[in-house]
Amino acid sequence: SSPALVDRFGRAATDLRVSLTDFCNLRCSYCMPESGLTFLKRDQLLSTEEIVRLVRIGVEELGVEQVRFTGGEPLTRPDLEEILAGCAALPGRPELSLTTNAIGLDHRAAGLAAAGLDRINVSLDTVVSETFERITRRPLLHRVLEGIDGAREAGLSPIKINAVILPGVNDHELPNLLAWCLERDLQLRVIEQMPLDADHVWDRGAMVTAGRVREILEDRFSLSPAPVAREGAPAELFDVAARDDGEHLGRLGIIASVTEPFCADCRRTRLTAEGSVRTCLFSREETDLRTALRSGATDAEIADLWRAAHWGKKAGHGMDRADFVPPERPMSAIGG
Ligand code: GTP
Ligand code: 5AD
Ligand code: SF4
Repeated sequence: SSPALVDRFGRAATDLRVSLTDFCNLRCSYCMPESGLTFLKRDQLLSTEEIVRLVRIGVEELGVEQVRFTGGEPLTRPDLEEILAGCAALPGRPELSLTTNAIGLDHRAAGLAAAGLDRINVSLDTVVSETFERITRRPLLHRVLEGIDGAREAGLSPIKINAVILPGVNDHELPNLLAWCLERDLQLRVIEQMPLDADHVWDRGAMVTAGRVREILEDRFSLSPAPVAREGAPAELFDVAARDDGEHLGRLGIIASVTEPFCADCRRTRLTAEGSVRTCLFSREETDLRTALRSGATDAEIADLWRAAHWGKKAGHGMDRADFVPPERPMSAIGG
């Protein structure tokens, strides 16, 4: 049997996404209900040691090369520094990254970098306060901006900005958002909204597509495909130049998970905050590893459970199929 996390379609997962918590201090409409959720209790979440052990098994036994911590909001875990330090000390050290809303990052960025964090992606859909409050249901844009500044001062680089585009909410702001990011040397990634909202109001017909995003931006910028290998990355990269004088301004990523899925080259495996494997964001099933962890299973036994889960990974999210059913749980509970 192969040591790697392979599936029937010949893909090997080398990219591990670990959700550290289902809790978040924002309530983005595309990710969590306004009322929040019944959040997991402390003993349902994996402990610091359990997370480091699973990452070690991934790296040592299963060929994991990159680890991204997500949530919910991973900065709401007080032991994030400890988790990073534990993972950074592993033989065959994986690349360590974080997807965060950046609230509180100004106070923690230096410590996170010292603990081994290599880079961060910040979820930020708008730089207009009213729009921010409408999307996130919290008046906290200034805290996010402080967090980004702090991350930059701590030398975290590159910093990518993830913006999910919602029709009639922030689509018209896109050229300004891109200009704002380019001025600050932040790499904007414009994201198609996926059907992972708690209220199930996602509508394929109304969704802002990658094609539409390019149209909106080409009013002010000219975009040309960047000459870089995609390597399973969700973002397609573009070189951005000014429309009027052709000056090169930087790069932009577009993540077209819905209209141009990258599932055929998927390299992902995920762990939920309660320690289950999900082979895809859109899986209908999960494989519990926490019970094994807490009942004395060996590394080899846990690796076998994880491998078996991956063998069942589906070809893709199947959003275009007539029988597509989105996961019941929203993005925050699955793990971004
Ligand atoms: P990089 O390594 O910097 O490229 O990170 P990433 O883009 O893989 O991760 P990030 O957490 O920043 O996610 C950005 C966007 O990618 C999300 O908003 C989703 O739209 C999309 N995404 C993340 N995970 C998955 C996934 O498992 N499947 C699909 N289809 N899209 C995903
Ligand atoms: N569709 C697309 N992206 C989403 N994210 C959260 N919910 C959705 C959704 N429904 C994004 C967040 C974060 C990343 C991990 O996923 O903005 O940056
Ligand atoms: Fe991979 Fe599933 Fe995402 Fe497709 S939707 S890229 S199969 S995790």
